[in-house]
Amino acid sequence: MLAAVCNVWLVTPMKFLITAGPTREPIDPVRYLSNRSSGKMGYALARAALDAGHEVVLVSGPVCLAAPEGAAIVRVTTSDEMFDAVHARVGEAEVCVLCAAVADFRPAVVEPRKIKKGDAESRRIELVPTRDILLSLRDLPPPKNGRKPVVVGFAAETDDVMENAHRKLRAKGCALLVVNDVSRADIGFETDENELTLLFASGEIRPLAFSKKDTLAAELIKIICTIS
Ligand code: PMT
Repeated sequence: MLAAVCNVWLVTPMKFLITAGPTREPIDPVRYLSNRSSGKMGYALARAALDAGHEVVLVSGPVCLAAPEGAAIVRVTTSDEMFDAVHARVGEAEVCVLCAAVADFRPAVVEPRKIKKGDAESRRIELVPTRDILLSLRDLPPPKNGRKPVVVGFAAETDDVMENAHRKLRAKGCALLVVNDVSRADIGFETDENELTLLFASGEIRPLAFSKKDTLAAELIKIICTIS
């Protein structure tokens, strides 16, 4: 929450729960399904929230980044682990920012032994949907002594970006959806820069121009605090 006193902005510290990085869905003991998320965007958000004086719990998939100093970090691997880690902590959170690239599907069966090259029958992998963490927060009952957290989702789109993002915002019921075009090589996955479009539940649309992820994260944390 932000308040202006004598032209000085005062920040009320808030409790952020942020997810970052990819998930890995095992196929067998040596292989998994995953994606290109480096964790840079989510970790930048965690650092920006800490720099602004907020408390941060960071639920992170496997990434090669140093934990932001001051964050309580919870390391997970699979989408199921991330779902459980978020639900174990959401009761304490005032703001949830789900930036992780969670796998939408996982193998129906995890083979206990490494699948062999010649094992023809095992070359088809049946996939089943993972649990949707963002969607699950929409229907959370309000906590006994407080308000439901403000929920911010991300949308990683490659085509019909705004059309798909609007559909996602309606389906997932979050206060704000942060959209990035991951078909571009210069933004989105793995890069140090990004370019974002903010879709608010109120109908407002606000672009955030191409910039360093750190700069965008600081701006985003300020904006999120105005809707909290
Ligand atoms: O990590 P970087 O390399 O810096 O890249 C940043 C990023 C591209 C990963 C990031 O900016 C981003 O877009 N994150 C969201 C990626 C994603 O999974 O988007 P989606 O459109 O598939 O999912 C929509 C939302 O639902 C996301 O908030 C996602 O966290 C959430 N979700 C998805 C599936 C699932 N099972 N549970 C979820 O909560």
